[in-house]
Amino acid sequence: MVNLLGRATDSVTALLSPVITAGQLNAAAAIRTHRRGYGGWTGAVNTDYDPLNPSTAAHPHAAYDALHRGGRVHYNPKRATWILHRLDDVRAALRDTDRVTSSQGVTRVRMVADLVVVTDDDQHSRLRKQVQPAFTKGALDGWRSIIDGLAAEMIDGMIAANGDDAVQRVTVPLPLRAIAAILGVPDSDIADFRRWSDDSTQLINFTPTPRGVVNTARSLRAAAALRRYFLRHLEDGHLKGSNTVLGRLLAYSTSGALTDNQLFYIAILLLIAGNETTTNLLGGMLHTYARHPDQYDMIRSNPELIPQAIEEHLRYTSPIQNLYRYTRADYQVGEVTIPTGSRVLMSFGAANRDPLAFDDPNTFRADRNPRSHLGFGYGPHLCLGAPLARMEAQAVLRELVDRVSRISLTGPATWSTNSSLRGPTHLPLVFHEKAIS
Ligand code: HEM
Repeated sequence: MVNLLGRATDSVTALLSPVITAGQLNAAAAIRTHRRGYGGWTGAVNTDYDPLNPSTAAHPHAAYDALHRGGRVHYNPKRATWILHRLDDVRAALRDTDRVTSSQGVTRVRMVADLVVVTDDDQHSRLRKQVQPAFTKGALDGWRSIIDGLAAEMIDGMIAANGDDAVQRVTVPLPLRAIAAILGVPDSDIADFRRWSDDSTQLINFTPTPRGVVNTARSLRAAAALRRYFLRHLEDGHLKGSNTVLGRLLAYSTSGALTDNQLFYIAILLLIAGNETTTNLLGGMLHTYARHPDQYDMIRSNPELIPQAIEEHLRYTSPIQNLYRYTRADYQVGEVTIPTGSRVLMSFGAANRDPLAFDDPNTFRADRNPRSHLGFGYGPHLCLGAPLARMEAQAVLRELVDRVSRISLTGPATWSTNSSLRGPTHLPLVFHEKAIS
């Protein structure tokens, strides 16, 4: 068993030890080269579709079309990865946690941790129940005015900036400020909070290279700083009784069910799960309206379409394109048996463009209402923060249609090259302010 993080980070890893113990964050089994060529005898179609290829990750849709034209199950020998891309197959696998589990991690690198997203069965139910009280309807109602205020502030800034990068002005700061507010971080601490959360959330992008290890060491140091910050806040007692995530969880765990450390892990989980994902959704939405003004006009004339337009953005943009699962029993998909111990790519992005599930899937239609999309996943791990993310995106779109008559690109957009999280990284836009009648 090898800890890929290595000795350089051992002391920092120890700070996080209740969640990720040395030896547990174990990637030794990650590269399963002996699986090369499985396609030959399982009936899977061998493919060179590589989600890790940066240009494919930035622009994956032609590759998805090819997967859909090919067989039901694909296998990439170079990456030792099975690929599910049809909506029904991805949904079925996400449901079947007995055979297709999250408990060995949901990325390419296997990991074991006491975190809701990488557990199944009773452990998962216990951890999910710990986080759920933070996202009740009452909590969300209490945050609505904060989110609306942030959306108004960001759109104001963008109108005034005229041609600036919307990623820097809107799509990155809005989710971060929203999470900071609901975690109870005061505005005066936002700059530190942003730096620590930017660095610590990169933990999810771990790659087993020398550079990856250095980046991971930085991430762990940032996580340690964030941990000190939250523990200080929890100690000084002002979060108690507040309508913040931690305040609500403190109230819920009156019997001391949650330790301060556990509360910190929940905070960092929400940062990792809720920031870049929402950034990607907002960026995808702005880019789509700049490219398809007819769809924007449709929403402007029918603002009641806003909630379903956001669902279509979730389908069309798929802020999380891919996550992995590992089989803990042989798993049958049609004629193909995926053997026990395999790494399986759940292609949310491809499933959301599945022509068997969605008519004309590569076209954005604001009034489509694609109820079965996998933007927030499906099954026991369905996104806990979905109502918050929807609230943020709907607030931005409402503010836009109120104030902005047209959105136009002033230069090329660039897209992230991360294989899991996809969204614009640079989006030079002009927001044309509506004439006041
Ligand atoms: C547009 C924004 C978002 C997208 C696209 C998104 C997507 C997802 C997806 C696909 C999953 C399922 C993971 C899996 O099956 O392994 C998930 C889980 C989760 N999400 Fe989100 N998410 C978003 C925003 C948020 C926000 C704002 C929060 C909280 C602040 C959040 C918290 C979580 C948590 C805690 C889980 C784990 C649930 C579990 O494992 O039971 N997400 N999200």
